[in-house]
Amino acid sequence: MRGERIVSKEMIRDFMLLYALAKMGAHNEPIRISTTKFAEKIGASQQSVSRYLVNLEKKGLVERSIDREGSLVKISKAGEELLRDVYLELNAIFEGRPRLIVVEGEVFSGLGEGAYYVSQEGYRRQFIEKLGFDPYPGTLNLRITDKRGIIMRTALNVYPGIEIKGFRNKNRAFGPVKCFLATINDCERGAVVLAERSHYSENVLEVIAPVYLRNKLGLKDGDKVKVEIFIGDKV
Ligand code: CDP
Repeated sequence: MRGERIVSKEMIRDFMLLYALAKMGAHNEPIRISTTKFAEKIGASQQSVSRYLVNLEKKGLVERSIDREGSLVKISKAGEELLRDVYLELNAIFEGRPRLIVVEGEVFSGLGEGAYYVSQEGYRRQFIEKLGFDPYPGTLNLRITDKRGIIMRTALNVYPGIEIKGFRNKNRAFGPVKCFLATINDCERGAVVLAERSHYSENVLEVIAPVYLRNKLGLKDGDKVKVEIFIGDKV
């Protein structure tokens, strides 16, 4: 969903409103704002501002409560993510793209679906060609528990990565996947796999590698694993 997006007028307005609210501290705590003063600040009518705020709330970008003195507004988690996306994109433009993102996570077991997907010929062929290795049939799931890690994981959405195309077999369609080459625990090479429509949320990292990592690195559920993710497509 994120990544390359078509920017509408409404999105620009939502962003500018969130940006103005963040400058007033609404990303940290609920702030009291008078719609009249806020309207003056952003150069709109009071009625428009009230409507904009209702809209932002409907989209889940702010949380709001109203009393006699005005509105209390706080930027929601989704609103903060939208601001962070833009921040990361700007940061990449002005500071140059960092070559590496380091994320730590804890091993956990899934439902055994990784093996099914990774061993599909349509994916496997592309992994070999584009990543340079034939992956062990499965994905090592890592749960990211720290806030910085989750932000860095989210940041991957805005980088192009290595594109693995979707395909069809006799029975069904398989969606496109984005990969980043990675080093696991400073020694094993592999890749991070982001499925376009993953059932996992953004606190999960799925790793593939040519070897059975649990065995090679002596991993069990709950163990911490460090993943260095290469943002460019060259290691
Ligand atoms: O979904 P779940 O993690 O249960 O299984 P899977 O993706 O089918 O992978 C099978 C097993 O191999 C899991 O225990 C993974 O953690 C593990 N695995 C690994 O150790 N090294 C890899 N390169 C890929 C998967």
